[in-house]
Amino acid sequence: MAEEIQVKKEDELTLSLPRERGLASSNMYLFQEFWCPSIVMKDVNIFQKQFQAKDSDIIVASFPKSGTTWLKAIAFAIVNRQCFSIDNHPLLTSNPHQLVPFITFMHPADSHFPTTEPRLFGTHIPFPSLSKSIIESNCKIIYICRNPFDTFISAWNYFNKIKQHSLSVLTMEEAFEMYCNGIIEFGPWWSHMLGYWKESIVRPNKILILKYEDLKENVNLYVKRVAEFLDFPFTQEEESNGVIESIIRLCSFEKMKDLEVNKSGISCKIFENKHFFRKAEIGDWVNYFSPSMTEKLSKIMEEKLSGSGLSFEIMHP
Ligand code: A3P
Repeated sequence: MAEEIQVKKEDELTLSLPRERGLASSNMYLFQEFWCPSIVMKDVNIFQKQFQAKDSDIIVASFPKSGTTWLKAIAFAIVNRQCFSIDNHPLLTSNPHQLVPFITFMHPADSHFPTTEPRLFGTHIPFPSLSKSIIESNCKIIYICRNPFDTFISAWNYFNKIKQHSLSVLTMEEAFEMYCNGIIEFGPWWSHMLGYWKESIVRPNKILILKYEDLKENVNLYVKRVAEFLDFPFTQEEESNGVIESIIRLCSFEKMKDLEVNKSGISCKIFENKHFFRKAEIGDWVNYFSPSMTEKLSKIMEEKLSGSGLSFEIMHP
């Protein structure tokens, strides 16, 4: 009986919503103006109603495949640097998604729910759909975005690896069409980025926007910036003792990809850690895009982001 009521509630939630397949999910619903995979729909609903943010909470937010894993590792290493030595660090034996869990995969009753403060959570939920208490409290959000060209290629590779077996394989052209129409898990990508971007202009102490490309080019500067933003600035002594560099090394792609836990482990009960680490390059899209794809996505990017102040430098071959 209880189960019946639950099913009904889910039906009520989704029945009237537009539905599409995603790159990895057989069903996504256009819920609150974003494409929500059906498997997280119920959790998003619970999260919105029940999650109580604390002022000390830190939220690592992103559109999928923008560098979430990296930023989670960096944030965790920064705020916990007094608790662990680099040689015996939890990041050597746990994937960042285990240490900084997705808020919608977590319930306060779960044993992995963070209990010590500051609590760190991750989310792919767009800004307007975050729980009221996150928006209204003084908790901080660090948002990472990435140029839409590489994001697509990263998503294309990743979602093909994790997609439900029963789901047919999309050609890259088909997936690209969907992406250009905003139809992708947690998309459209432009409104996702702009939601956080616009709020960061209104509340610069609440949201810090980072770009994957900037981190790749000057990670030292951005690790410092994240630490300051989160109110965990490095002291002069730490700087001269090389603490920043040791965090950068610990969180580097090369180091993380090679760890046993990231070669064979599983995060959030279903995701194989190894798939979170692919190439980590800027500009890999040139190996995939045809000239017409480049032209199309350039136009969409220009049109959607124009006037917002958010832009990405695209190096054409
Ligand atoms: P590529 O697919 O281009 O290689 P997310 O963490 O949001 O899922 O994003 C995944 C992307 O970040 C992948 O990009 C992955 O290789 C890259 N990545 C993962 N860990 C990284 C790290 N420690 N440093 C830099 N990039 C990383």
